[in-house]
Amino acid sequence: SKMSKQNEFKDDSSSKARKNGNASCEELNLKTIAELIKSGKAQNIIFMAGAGISTAAGIPDFRSPGTGLYDNLSKYNLPRPESIFEIQYFKKNPEPFFELARELYPSKFLPTLTHYFIKLLYQKEVLLRCFTQNIDTLEQIAGLPEEVVVEAHGSFSKSQCLRCKKMADPKWMKETIFSGVIPKCLECKGIVKPCITFFGESLPEKFFLHLPDFNRCDLLIVAGTSLQVQPFSLLIDYVSSKTPRLLINREKVACYTPGMGFDFNGSFSDVRRDIFYGGSCDDGVLELAELLGWKEELEKLHKEGHEKLKEENKELAEEKKVEVSDVDALAAEFVKKVDISEVEKSTPDKVDEDKKDANKEDANKEDANKEDANKEDANKEDANKEDANKEDANKEDANKEDANKEDANKEDANKEDVKVDKLEKKEALEDKSMEETKYE
Ligand code: OAD
Ligand code: ZN
Repeated sequence: SKMSKQNEFKDDSSSKARKNGNASCEELNLKTIAELIKSGKAQNIIFMAGAGISTAAGIPDFRSPGTGLYDNLSKYNLPRPESIFEIQYFKKNPEPFFELARELYPSKFLPTLTHYFIKLLYQKEVLLRCFTQNIDTLEQIAGLPEEVVVEAHGSFSKSQCLRCKKMADPKWMKETIFSGVIPKCLECKGIVKPCITFFGESLPEKFFLHLPDFNRCDLLIVAGTSLQVQPFSLLIDYVSSKTPRLLINREKVACYTPGMGFDFNGSFSDVRRDIFYGGSCDDGVLELAELLGWKEELEKLHKEGHEKLKEENKELAEEKKVEVSDVDALAAEFVKKVDISEVEKSTPDKVDEDKKDANKEDANKEDANKEDANKEDANKEDANKEDANKEDANKEDANKEDANKEDANKEDANKEDVKVDKLEKKEALEDKSMEETKYE
């Protein structure tokens, strides 16, 4: 079956790796990963990304002490840093989020070398999917097609009224946010919120639609994430128990607890398949690219990508400078704050509230779908008036999309060797709204 064909490291390399010191062990293991790709054994790679792949673009991550966003929110007087992304808090007090949104709004940042490495994997036809937690859309700005990227925590590209569920015009939304006004629905005056996933909300449908990808995955690359947010963090255990997993990160994360997590020392499993590259994402992918013989190609992609984006948006180069001074200001502000407060555990009450919220969310989703359908109808009508040919083209596109979806479903159905525990896991995942994992 497909499962048994999946990759695992040979015994000799694992024992060698065990005997070696750390530095040479990393060297050897990145080489092993490169071999898997070069030999064609890894051609369904899933790349799981977090904020750490974008810090080199000037966007702070969330949890790095000092520089991370959660250490730099004191001016907002939040109950706790995460409140800025909590749906319950937002409903009562949306100002802090919108103030922050002006700083985080995409379009003024350039993709990093890591983003272009993911694009290179795609161009080499070995990338199955990129699952990202990031809301900066830099994967797509780097040129990855929409269908290859799963924005697991949504993005700024769509916005919706929390009350009547009407989708807002993106241009209007951006202008309103930047004018310093809380965006209120033109129909019902409810707060309009960008469709980024907040704590207590469920993830976008596309995330669940693409879970079967993990059954096919023959190499998992995880980069720049603390893996502290569920359900995203649970995905690393959705690949087969023999599928090689590479973590590129400044720190080791999600280390083994019974039944889940990385086992970098091979102490818990017969199959040694987890590799840790400790360092920056950009250094890690560059080293890997070099081992693959792709270094020049990657650097060219990076350079030309930036040139093209700067040409398209002349402000980018200058805005970047502004960004750097912003980061300085953030850093200066942080120095004043010595205390790093521990995040409270969620109380059972809170969990219940979250669940209620998730149910509401589901209902909302349905409404949103209806909205979308209405919109589609409206669009179709417009197309009729405007240009019959165009409409045909759209229909074709829609058909293609449907066909793709059907394919995905079929694939799902065909997977007879999906183990029961996997199905259970999937259900467990679908029940989950976004929440933080607490490691002891
Ligand atoms: P975190 O800030 O929790 O974790 C970032 C990780 O990347 C940390 O382990 C850092 O050490 C590491 N890191 C930072 N810069 C790096 C670099 N240049 N090279 C290598 N490693 C680096 O960010 P996420 O795990 O992405 O949700 O956070 C997950 C979610 O929590 C986010 O999507 C966000 C947040 O609440 C939403 O906003 C919806
Ligand atoms: Zn409304």
